[in-house]
Amino acid sequence: MNQREIIINDNYSEFDELFSGKKVFLVCDSSYGFLNIGKHIDSLIESGADIIKFSDFEPNPDYLSVKEAVHLFKKSDRELIVAVGGGSAMDLAKCVKLYSNMDDSEEYINQDIVPNDIPLIAVPTTAGTGSEATRYAVIYYNGVKQSIADLSCIPSVVVFDSSVLKTLPMYQRKATMMDAFCHSIESFWSVNSTDESKELSKTAITMILDNMDAYLGNEDKANKAMLKAANIAGKAINITQTTAGHAMCYKLTSLYGIAHGHAAALCDSVLMPYMIEHTENCIDSRGEAYLKTVFEDIAKTMSCDSTSALCEKFNAVVSRLEFSIPDCSDEDYEVLKTSVNPTRLKNNPVKLSEDTIDMLYHQIFSKRK
Ligand SMILES: [Fe+2]
Repeated sequence: MNQREIIINDNYSEFDELFSGKKVFLVCDSSYGFLNIGKHIDSLIESGADIIKFSDFEPNPDYLSVKEAVHLFKKSDRELIVAVGGGSAMDLAKCVKLYSNMDDSEEYINQDIVPNDIPLIAVPTTAGTGSEATRYAVIYYNGVKQSIADLSCIPSVVVFDSSVLKTLPMYQRKATMMDAFCHSIESFWSVNSTDESKELSKTAITMILDNMDAYLGNEDKANKAMLKAANIAGKAINITQTTAGHAMCYKLTSLYGIAHGHAAALCDSVLMPYMIEHTENCIDSRGEAYLKTVFEDIAKTMSCDSTSALCEKFNAVVSRLEFSIPDCSDEDYEVLKTSVNPTRLKNNPVKLSEDTIDMLYHQIFSKRK
């Protein structure tokens, strides 16, 4: 699906046209009040634009918040959804769109999705999740993670405003970048990869590496490039889904409260060398020889002359970011090794047993100083 892109360089005229005369439902998170685009939208409201704001949700949104948002959307007869925020705001807005034509007398989550034409506009405020480019939304139903997927919830317009990254705290800056980096790498080796997805991965990896220093230094040109790179990595996982690194990282986030991209980086840093060493356990239908060329291709994309140099480079990036390594108890190891979503493991090109997953978690925590 073709996504229209609008780039804001201190000029909101194209953005404003999207709102003109429309009854807008705006989903925004707590960053909104600090952002230029938030102030700009508030000025539209002050001058009479018909915009209803919904921000009553927590990160990793709960189904009840989604329900509340859908009720408000329907009651106020809205015709356009705009999401300003990180992954959680996007996910909630996607669900509002998908549920907006459903029957209120039954739980939305149990009903079939019937695509509708309500436009959804995404303004990502971090350079990481790529959620603005994917058909997936994650919400929590009775505390259990639910992955909703439908092509019709991919936003029709994405608005890139690099000024949103100016005030992004350093930890979020690092973690969201690593989320995008892990998306592009995991998509590259996914069993679902295609020529198109691998080209997207290559482009995203190259952009992330080329701009990493300046992005960490909060330079505007690099912020622009990183927003775009995260979007391209999102397009790659929209084709392939993520793999074992992501399957392993979710529990680290829920157990220790570390950011998603931080957790994904820790997992991929041990997963990558393990997979390169164990291609004989390949489950990609294209075969082991193919898989070896994939790892060599990733190495080449990262300007490494061998797959061992690739692992060193990836680990050097993670070390440089100085992510903390949580303290894992024996009970935690028990929880972790059975926490991994088997569907995601099916996307992983190398078969991983529960013992292997346990060993990989031990490797992560052994790096704790
Ligand atoms: Fe991710």
